[in-house]
Amino acid sequence: MTGELSPIDTAKFVAAKRAVDFVEDGMKVGLGTGSTAAWMVRCLGELVREDGLSVVGVPTSTRTAELARKVGVDVVSLDQAKWLDLTIDGADEFDPDLNLIKGGGGALLQEKIVATASDRMIVITDASKRVDSLGAFPLPLEVVPFGWQTTKALIEETLAGLDVLGQSCTLRLNGEAPFVTDEGNYIVDLHLHRIANPRQASLVLNQIPGVVENGLFIDICDVVVIGHGDGRVEVNDINSGTTEQDRIDFVESANMFSDLSE
Ligand code: 5RP
Repeated sequence: MTGELSPIDTAKFVAAKRAVDFVEDGMKVGLGTGSTAAWMVRCLGELVREDGLSVVGVPTSTRTAELARKVGVDVVSLDQAKWLDLTIDGADEFDPDLNLIKGGGGALLQEKIVATASDRMIVITDASKRVDSLGAFPLPLEVVPFGWQTTKALIEETLAGLDVLGQSCTLRLNGEAPFVTDEGNYIVDLHLHRIANPRQASLVLNQIPGVVENGLFIDICDVVVIGHGDGRVEVNDINSGTTEQDRIDFVESANMFSDLSE
């Protein structure tokens, strides 16, 4: 099976496969969004279908909800679940304190609400997302469409007072039109290059009227599972300060790979 996957997809898959070991029978699980999270949803579906695992999933996007239903994971809303045992999601960057930039897929708002409503957040990723300090990946801000250009100007003005290297902002597009989130909002991407104080940046940016949420996840992630192209995985737990090395044994599973489109 590894022969069919690129090293990057293998890395994402093994991270996802290792992360679903944290899921126990009866758990309520937040389901992230993106290509790595899609592997996790499929791995979870396999456990439900083949091992009879009983879980409910709270998806963080319509894309993830569709995939979860397709692979056999029961889906409920966050209001039905109320509080979750675990959320497993991808990330665009993570730093040594396991602070994150998320939102490359435009689902940061639901992702942050769901992760914050969970006892534990596990991030699954390949090693390319590891950084010393956050900011090389553009920081997404979800903004309401009403007056978005004024909001963008206010964001630019605010950035002048923050310790960041770059200050340009771009409206995210889907073809010619603005990219629209599941909540009906727009995304403004901030090209900051380096964010010296992510905690302060997160607080300050969320004060701007029109900004709904930003993609900095500060003190939310508990564990990062880093997959490698050769099947190795590292599990870093920020609370216990431990790092475990592991290797995933691949088991052929035709069902799992037949309909992945992310
Ligand atoms: C979506 C996200 C994703 O988790 C992030 O963009 C990583 O995606 P991928 O696993 O495809 O690299 O935050 O809003």
